[in-house]
Amino acid sequence: MLELEHLSRRFGDKTAVADASLTIAHGEMVGIIGRSGAGKSTLLRLINRLIEPSAGRILSDGRDVTGLRGAELRAWRARTAMIFQQFNLVNRLDVLTNVLCGRLNQMPTTRVLFKIFTPAERALAIRALDRLGLADVAMNRADALSGGQQQRVAIARALMQEPSVMLADEPIASLDPINAKVVMDALLDINQRDGITVLTNLHTLDTARTYCRRIIGMAAGRVVFDGKPEELTESVLHTIYGDAGDGAVLDERMTSTSLPMGIIPAMAR
Ligand SMILES: Nc1ncnc2c1ncn2[C@@H]1O[C@H](COP(=O)(O)OP(=O)(O)O)[C@@H](O)[C@H]1O
Ligand SMILES: [Mg+2]
Repeated sequence: MLELEHLSRRFGDKTAVADASLTIAHGEMVGIIGRSGAGKSTLLRLINRLIEPSAGRILSDGRDVTGLRGAELRAWRARTAMIFQQFNLVNRLDVLTNVLCGRLNQMPTTRVLFKIFTPAERALAIRALDRLGLADVAMNRADALSGGQQQRVAIARALMQEPSVMLADEPIASLDPINAKVVMDALLDINQRDGITVLTNLHTLDTARTYCRRIIGMAAGRVVFDGKPEELTESVLHTIYGDAGDGAVLDERMTSTSLPMGIIPAMAR
């Protein structure tokens, strides 16, 4: 169980995350929605400890991880693997090596320096690529792949960390609808077959509704909704996204390269 207790983060006089308290059980798949600037990315980065909280605590199975340092912090970051909108692969390296890089945190420096991976690590990487449908491009350069393939490589790299939590920050925001579906299906598969908790920021309401049984809505740094997709009423959506009559706000909800035609949320038609 992952618990956030009164978690806050300020940047100067700007509060990016304000007093967020959440409990997330092992194996949940949670979608986080909200306007740009609502604090979604900061929340994920706080959990992974890429960003330090200004106040509050993070507990993992009752253990306070907010103060971890050194090797323990590295282990926590490995357990809470992150994937990003822009994939963050090393372009000039081949796919297999990119995936093996997921292991660097857990390796002694000498092996890192000489990029020495064990047969067991290679086997794990090839299995990860295989289940994501990428075995046949394992030796290609990362930048020779499509965006959808690159994001799946990033997921395979994250799996190499053998994480208990996967934090995905708008993983499909740069993808076309077909690749968006393939990547979301991959995250769902990891959640359901491996029992890995998935916490994903999503820029379209539709995707959150389709893939997540629990949705968290953020506005101006605060958690303003936490419930099931069917509980997202007009008034809740108004709280999360602002004035629904405002075209700009509608754009915020609808701007999407990943929104398949014909599945436009009812209230926006
Ligand atoms: N490193 C930073 N320095 C200053 N302000 C930041 C930083 N990161 C985020 N913010 C601010 O915090 C707020 C929340 O940002 P963010 O978490 O990126 O929102 P979201 O992911 O929902 O778009 C925004 O107002 C943003 O400008
Ligand atoms: Mg963001």
